[in-house]
Amino acid sequence: MSINLGQSTNKGTALMKFAHQFQPEVILPDEFVGWFFDDAVAQALKADCLNLSVEPTNDAERFQQIAYWYTILREKYGDEVIEEAIESNCKQLLLLGSGYDTRFFRIAAVREKSVHTFEVDLPETIAEKRRFLTEKLENIPQELTLIPLDFNQENLNKLFQQGFDPTVETAYIWQGVSYYLPQESVSQVLDFIKSWMTTDSVLVFDCCSPLMTFKNDRIPGIATSIDRLTEIGEPFLFGMYADEMKNWLEEKGFQDIKILQQDALEEKFLHKRTLPNNMWYVVKARV
Ligand SMILES: C[S@@+](CC[C@H](N)C(=O)[O-])C[C@H]1O[C@@H](n2cnc3c(N)ncnc32)[C@H](O)[C@@H]1O
Repeated sequence: MSINLGQSTNKGTALMKFAHQFQPEVILPDEFVGWFFDDAVAQALKADCLNLSVEPTNDAERFQQIAYWYTILREKYGDEVIEEAIESNCKQLLLLGSGYDTRFFRIAAVREKSVHTFEVDLPETIAEKRRFLTEKLENIPQELTLIPLDFNQENLNKLFQQGFDPTVETAYIWQGVSYYLPQESVSQVLDFIKSWMTTDSVLVFDCCSPLMTFKNDRIPGIATSIDRLTEIGEPFLFGMYADEMKNWLEEKGFQDIKILQQDALEEKFLHKRTLPNNMWYVVKARV
């Protein structure tokens, strides 16, 4: 059986994390991500149908392998920041554009320390996630709140009606989303976080280089990726170079800004540097 990377990017990133479970080197164990896929997908991934552990034979395959490793590494990075935040008394987790995130179940400290977790995503994704979770668990745990909201259409103040308390120490995680939004929406989300975030809270999000938003010869495989994302109606709309991002965030009032390109993430978690450093990067910041 062959499977494609999903008809939507949220299923696509979850599929990468699920595929990782069948790889020789598992650095992100996740026994829950399989909840969102049927057995046929598990069988195909077991047979490494995505060719993740073989040498790529063309630019499109190479791009896919880089995207796979970046997905795993940024998740590891977010986990580490969340775990450190919980150690220092963080009581809330806000996952913006959460997709099929499993951290509420996967990170032991989240439940041990009763960290209330708010997951925000588009209404159709939240509805589908709710359906999967209800099938598995019957009831959604009380400390997990799923909030349907479109960053392009709605005001994030809606979170307050759902019990999100901005005065509490919070880990804000906005992962895998900024590049799908117009710059104006990215700016509004960052401004919202800045305006409410307490000094002991932390923000992690990721972004990409502008080179990821148009066809060029600096990023091998970008043309195929752009065609695929356009076909499924989720093109990359926003990219910013890391130095510009740092300046932009400082202008917005963020501080203690740390940016890691994907090769730095690779160094941190895999102790080698083979990934290109002009594609995606993660940002950690405080106010
Ligand atoms: C690539 S997925 C990342 C999912 C998850 N954060 C992860 O890292 O696996 C992007 C997510 O952003 C959500 N998203 C995209 N545009 C959005 C919008 N305008 N409002 C709310 N969520 C949005 C998608 O539905 C999807 O779940």
